[in-house]
Amino acid sequence: TLKVVVIGGGSSYTPEIIEGMILRYDAFPVTDIVLVDIEAGKGKLEIVGRLAARMIEEAEKPINLSWTLDRKQALEGADFVTTQIRVGGLQARASDERIPLSHGYIGQETNGAGGALKAFRTIPVLMDIARDIHDICPDAWMINFTNPAGMVTEALLKHSAHDKVIGVCNIPYNMRHSVAEIMNVDPSTVRIEFVGMNHFVFGRNVFVNGINRTEEVLEKLAGDDLDYSPANIVSLGWSKTFIAATRLLPNPYHEYYFHTREVLKKDIQAFEAHGTRAEVVQQLEGSLFELYRNPDLRVKPKELEQRGGAYYSDVACSLMDSIYNDKGDIQTVNTSNHGAISDFADDSVIEVNCVITKDGPKPLAIGKLPYQVKGAIQHMKAFEELVIQAAINGSYEDAYLAFLMNPLVADEESSKILLDEMLAANQAYLPQF
Ligand code: G6P
Ligand code: MN
Repeated sequence: TLKVVVIGGGSSYTPEIIEGMILRYDAFPVTDIVLVDIEAGKGKLEIVGRLAARMIEEAEKPINLSWTLDRKQALEGADFVTTQIRVGGLQARASDERIPLSHGYIGQETNGAGGALKAFRTIPVLMDIARDIHDICPDAWMINFTNPAGMVTEALLKHSAHDKVIGVCNIPYNMRHSVAEIMNVDPSTVRIEFVGMNHFVFGRNVFVNGINRTEEVLEKLAGDDLDYSPANIVSLGWSKTFIAATRLLPNPYHEYYFHTREVLKKDIQAFEAHGTRAEVVQQLEGSLFELYRNPDLRVKPKELEQRGGAYYSDVACSLMDSIYNDKGDIQTVNTSNHGAISDFADDSVIEVNCVITKDGPKPLAIGKLPYQVKGAIQHMKAFEELVIQAAINGSYEDAYLAFLMNPLVADEESSKILLDEMLAANQAYLPQF
């Protein structure tokens, strides 16, 4: 048997991962898929479960699919466990976005104050899940997409007993595909050397069919109006000077750090027009579930591409395929540094190209951080460490320090105001504070 358990199976994203497994069935012959959710997600779980069953039937694959609220039972005999949960749901996300915005700060679910709060809510729950995995199916790989994916993965690798944990994100995938578009080549021929952390990663070298074409890519990126961002992030483009000075490919989340004022303006306009991204997603989810309910729908609907996380399943499924088949190909994942970046501790989690083996991801060496962004990357890592520490020990001072040390907050008075308001709004989801 080959069993995959999807925790947070009631997510509107689930048809993606189901499609991913169907498409890879020949190489990755999954026999059992179990979708798991919690009581509050029961309604969604059933709708998604029925759609998933129809998709499998339509594809004529002999896969047993079931759904349950009993996580422990579902984990029995699992080979892979994917985690795609949202603690507190979209309502909590809305508060991560709204509260900072109402004080004149970027309100974003994985960056700044919002990212820290999301980590505080999420890390304890994923620690519980990792403990169950360790107790029930200790050989299973835990593949985490839950945001903030980098910090969550570092928390689990440092503080949980389970060490077969890998974090994934669609941003490196999207960047590869954007570069392919820019260069007018097939995405499979593109390799980017990534340096940094999840949602703060830079592309250093770009190879097309093994030939270094970084200069051309940077030239095309500079001052151009390419829409380089997923659905949830404004795309302002990068100036010639920025590119000439950094000589690196930024990722779309860098808009928040290097175009802070302009993005804030746009986010406030968007907020006034249709609320925060959480509220837009809520609407989107409503119409997605409307589609999912239709018994005639038997494939993943195109509309799912409007979500920022579109294609995450390609990343997750290629990863499971390569582990299962000991492929030894190169994929970009979140894993412990193990010396890849010489400026970082071995146990810091980075987003890095790895050789994917049955024994997990093996990072390719990077060496020293590029001098141009060394300070920014180290600063963000220090922030992440504070967030993780606070999420685990529930220390108010560590949480305050995390806010203070985040470049998107970095103000003494506001750190406390934001923190207090956000802790209060999230009380139900913060057992550690
Ligand atoms: C990106 C990120 C994901 C994130 C998603 C948000 O692509 O990589 O980590 O979850 O966007 O998309 P949403 O549709 O929920 O705003
Ligand atoms: Mn991501």
